Amino acid sequence: MIKLKQIKDLELSGKRVILRADLNVPFSNGKILDLTRLKKLSSTIRTLSKKRARIIIISHFGRPGGKINKDYSLGIVVPELVKILKQEVRFSTDCLGQQAENIVNSLASSEVALLENLRFYKGEEENDPEFARSLAKFGDIYINDAFSASHRSHASVEELPKLLVNAAGPQLLKEINSLNKLFTSRSGPVAAVVGGSKVSTKVSVINNLIKKTDYIIIGGAMANSFLYTIGQEVGCSMYQKESKDIIKQIFLNSKKENCEIVLPIDAVVADSIENPRFIEECLISDVPKNKMILDVGKESISHFISKIRSCKSILWNGPLGAFETEPFDKGTVTFANEIAELTKNKEIISVAGGGDTIHSLNKAGVTKKLSYVSTAGGAFLEWIEGKDLPGITVLDRA
Ligand code: 3PG
Repeated sequence: MIKLKQIKDLELSGKRVILRADLNVPFSNGKILDLTRLKKLSSTIRTLSKKRARIIIISHFGRPGGKINKDYSLGIVVPELVKILKQEVRFSTDCLGQQAENIVNSLASSEVALLENLRFYKGEEENDPEFARSLAKFGDIYINDAFSASHRSHASVEELPKLLVNAAGPQLLKEINSLNKLFTSRSGPVAAVVGGSKVSTKVSVINNLIKKTDYIIIGGAMANSFLYTIGQEVGCSMYQKESKDIIKQIFLNSKKENCEIVLPIDAVVADSIENPRFIEECLISDVPKNKMILDVGKESISHFISKIRSCKSILWNGPLGAFETEPFDKGTVTFANEIAELTKNKEIISVAGGGDTIHSLNKAGVTKKLSYVSTAGGAFLEWIEGKDLPGITVLDRA
């Protein structure tokens, strides 16, 4: 396993530390909807502050496309950050230029500054070395504490650390250690649960997991494509006909690697997702031609849980049904509660990640009951695909 340089390996007192954070918080109508990323980051800021660093936070926010767009101003996080930190945060409305320079130069030890959204400049997403050099002028040391942005080959993630002494931040380390532990220190069988709608977006995830796990449990609309491939009736469910060959290959790969693909054995079927007049639970073999599968049934949950009980750890990505619409969230919520219970009883180590998965764990109220929940979306998926993340590859080794 890679050993990255960390905060404890560096002398920080009086140094200008550029902290690459992920302040890409969910928001609506000018309000932040979830403070998890801010809370996690605040613990890193406190550590740096205790070490008397001069802290300059940089981040992207949304996808403004290289242009100034007030809707994506990081000014939105300042009051929340101040509340959490109980400390002043000086905000520069430009991440480059005179204002940013003045703020950075006048920062005393333990003080905190936040620079405006990096993606207001094209150079960020273009991984422009010149843009990185302009940012590098503000710091002596670079710390990446943004695992969730580390899959991006962007200037603040990939080019900037090349120009400064750098280290991995504590939240980034916690993330990669928790994820790596799942497969490297395995004390028994491992299961992966992969849900969501499209097989095509998760082929490489599944093929990589086949090599590392004993069971892959498939849920969500993706399961319909698997069921269709093995000749089951899926009615008018959402499925990908064109994925038949890919799925056949997945079955062949899983046989070779001795990994069992576990599919639902029953389902909740309905005539419509928005305004259902007919909802029924039936065996997969009895799915009516004119109905659609919208959730896994009770038998499937028991079947999945019996497989998981024989494992020591589980990795979960993707909901098991159309969880955004009640009552089709029931399978995912019941499964989430079962996983939380097994985790509480120390029967399994549970790791989950990905936007929809976190949303469904929140819905079930069990986010804090799993062993580890990654706040990363795309980076989490690329990690389970087995890809190297550029923002981590570039960091100095201890
Ligand atoms: C995330 O929220 O997953 C990260 O901040 C990455 O955002 P991006 O997909 O816009 O690069």
